[in-house]
Amino acid sequence: MVEVCIIGSGLAGLTVAAHLPSNLSCLIVSDAATSGNSWLAQGGIAAALDSSDTTERHLADTLDAGDHHVDGEVARYLVEYGKEFVREALHQGFPADRMPDGSLNLGTEAAHSSKRILHAGGDQTGYHWMTHITELTNKLQRIENVRVHSLVVDNGRCQGVRIYSASHEIQTIFARVVILATGGIGDLFSVTSNSRAASGTGLSLAYHAGAALSDLEFIQFHPTVAVEDNKTIGLVTEAVRGAGATFCDVFGQSLPINPLAPRDATARAVEEYWQRGFAVYLNVAHIDNLDERFPTIKETLQKMNNQQLASLGRIPVRPGAHFHMGGVSADITGRTSLPGLYAVGEVACTGVHGANRLASNSLLECLVLGNLAAKAIAEECKSPTPNLDLIREILPTPFQVKEVSRRKLTEVLGVIRDEHIEAFSQSLPVTRWDLEAVAASEIESLHRYTTVSLLTKAASLRTESRGAHFRKDHPEATDAWLGKVIVHSDGTEQLHERKLHATKERVLL
Ligand code: SIN
Repeated sequence: MVEVCIIGSGLAGLTVAAHLPSNLSCLIVSDAATSGNSWLAQGGIAAALDSSDTTERHLADTLDAGDHHVDGEVARYLVEYGKEFVREALHQGFPADRMPDGSLNLGTEAAHSSKRILHAGGDQTGYHWMTHITELTNKLQRIENVRVHSLVVDNGRCQGVRIYSASHEIQTIFARVVILATGGIGDLFSVTSNSRAASGTGLSLAYHAGAALSDLEFIQFHPTVAVEDNKTIGLVTEAVRGAGATFCDVFGQSLPINPLAPRDATARAVEEYWQRGFAVYLNVAHIDNLDERFPTIKETLQKMNNQQLASLGRIPVRPGAHFHMGGVSADITGRTSLPGLYAVGEVACTGVHGANRLASNSLLECLVLGNLAAKAIAEECKSPTPNLDLIREILPTPFQVKEVSRRKLTEVLGVIRDEHIEAFSQSLPVTRWDLEAVAASEIESLHRYTTVSLLTKAASLRTESRGAHFRKDHPEATDAWLGKVIVHSDGTEQLHERKLHATKERVLL
C-alpha cells in the first residue's frame, strides 16, 4: 500500500509529485514515461510577467476565450499564482528563451491582449518543462509501461488502482489517495495534435468508479495540424502564424482566412474549405530563421512525403482535436466527487477553461493547480487512514464492445457539428459495466467506447454553439444554455452554482 498513487507522468501528475511532502509514500504509474502530450507542447506558458501586462488582463482574456463558461474564482487563482510558479521555475534554472540583453523573450498568441507567452527552445517548451520536472521527481517510485484497468472502489471511497502490463496480468495497488493525471482525448480522433497516449481512459475510469464528469462536449480543435494523405504529421504551433505564416492553396495563392483570429474561428474557416473539397496549406516560406526559431516545424517539413511542397514552405493543415476543456468534475484542489480520488491537468474539469481554453494556459494549469492539489493531498493524508475493506476476487472474462472509428468521431464530433450527432449518440448507449469482470485484453476497447459514448451524449445535449465548437443546426450561443452538462453515474442530481455566471445544470445520467 502507498499513500499516494498518481496515474500518469505528464506535467500535471509530476507537478503534484514534486510538491508532495517527502514523508508521504508516492507511486507514479504510467505508460511509456515520455509518451504523453506534455512532451509535445509547442506553445508556451502564459504569465503576466511583462511590465506592461497585468493579471487582470490575463484574467479578462481567459474569461473571454471561455465564452461565459469559466469559473472565475479558479481562473483568478490560475493567473495570479501562475506568475509566482513561473518565477520559481525560472529561479530553479528553467531555460526560458531570452532576448540578447537577458530579458525574457515573451511572445504573443491569438486572443492574448499582451505579450505574455514564455517559450523554451523555440517551439519545444513542453519538452523543456518535462525535462525540468522529471529531474525534480527522479527519485520517486515509478512503474512504467503499464495501463490502468480500473479504480478500486469500496466503502464509497477510491482505495487504489488495478494496473496491467503488456502480458495482460492484472496487479492491484492500494492507495490512500489516487490522482488521475491521464491527460486528454485526442487519440479518439483521426486528426489530432495529441500523442497516442491521450485516449481518454481517465474519463472512463472515473465514470465507472462513480465520480461526476462535466463539460464533456467542449473540445478544442487546433486550426493547424499538419496532415498528409489523411495522416497527422504533427502540430504547427500558433506562434508560426504569429511570426507571419498565412493560409494558401496548393498553388500558394493566399486564402481569405485570418491567421490570427481566435482559435475556434480560424479552425472553422479552415475546416469549411476541407469540407468543400479544398485542401488548405500554411505558407511558412517567408518566416525568418524558421529552422532556428521553430525546430519542430523544420522536422515536420522534413517528414512530408511531398518534398516539392515542403521546399516551397507549404504545409497541408486541417483542424485537429487539441484540448479537452471537459473532464472529471474537480474543485480547485483537484478533489472529485468520489472521496479518495483527485484529478489534475487535462483530465480534470475545474471550469478554469470554460468552453474554450486560452492558448498557453494549459501548462500553467498543470503547474498551479497541480501544486494546490499536492497541498490538499498532504492535508488529507494527515487524518487517520480510512478502513480498507477486503476486495472481492473476481475472475475477469473476455468481453466485447462496439468500436467507433477515429474518422467517424472526427466527422460527427469535430469543430463543425450538426443534427446527426443525436442519432449517433443514440447508437452508442452510455453503459456502466462491472469492470472487475472484464479481462485486461478487452479493457482498452471498453474505456475507449465509454469515453466516446459520454462525449457524444454530452455534445448531443448541448443544442447551441459555444466556445470551441459550432453547431450548424444551432448556430447561436443562447442564454438558456448558460449551464453545464454533468454526468452523475449514480443517477443523483445536484444543484450546481457557478462562481462567475449563474448557470443551470442539466443532468445526464
Ligand atoms: C500552439 O502552440 O499553437 C498550441 C498552444 C496551446 O494550445 O496552448
